[in-house]
Amino acid sequence: MSTSARRLIVGVTGASGSAIALRLLQLLQQADGWEVHLVLSPAAILNAQIELNLGREAFEPLAHRVYAHKDISASIASGSFRTEGMVIVPCSMNTLSAVAHGASSNLIARAADVVLKERRKLVLVAREAPLNLIQLRNMTAATEAGAVVFPPVPSFYLGEISFQQMVTQIAGRVLDQFGIDNPDVFRWNGIKSRA
Ligand SMILES: Cc1cc2nc3c(=O)[nH]c(=O)nc-3n(C[C@H](O)[C@H](O)[C@H](O)COP(=O)(O)O)c2cc1C
Repeated sequence: MSTSARRLIVGVTGASGSAIALRLLQLLQQADGWEVHLVLSPAAILNAQIELNLGREAFEPLAHRVYAHKDISASIASGSFRTEGMVIVPCSMNTLSAVAHGASSNLIARAADVVLKERRKLVLVAREAPLNLIQLRNMTAATEAGAVVFPPVPSFYLGEISFQQMVTQIAGRVLDQFGIDNPDVFRWNGIKSRA
């Protein structure tokens, strides 16, 4: 990795959608010039086991640096460590709440708080359905603080695509937020281009 690599923090939490986190890390590996700093919550690890039958070993080799969830002494806990921003994928309602209220009791929440205070980009792939008023208000508060709330909604206009294609589309559209392009992402070019 070159010294000019751009740093992106990836937090993975215990909402449904482990496959999106895994695919996003794979796409980041293919992208040139990005240095990935990864934190998994304990619930994220449990979820990956349930949803993908995979452990943390499937995620960690895809990052340049991996941090413990409780390591609030880590570099990414400080604004002096320069990054392009952070994505939390998937983002649980628990972590959304912590971010929305500035509660930094673990490294994912602290790193997100730092990203917001430094006015860097924070993308929250918040997953829950249906949403209660508290969750909607937390999304509003996070948005007001500068975050992008990006629910992992399928692109239904793509028709009958595979699960993997759907996951790639969502992960790729999330990376679009950081200007990271991927050739596997479908780009709508008008109804005529489908013919
Ligand atoms: C199989 C499974 C699926 C879950 N799906 C969601 C979900 O979609 N959204 C959510 O907010 N929480 C979900 N949860 C609950 C979170 O994992 C739980 O609130 C946890 O405390 C989140 O902790 P974290 O934010 O530190 O990862 C799920 C839990 C399990 C076991």
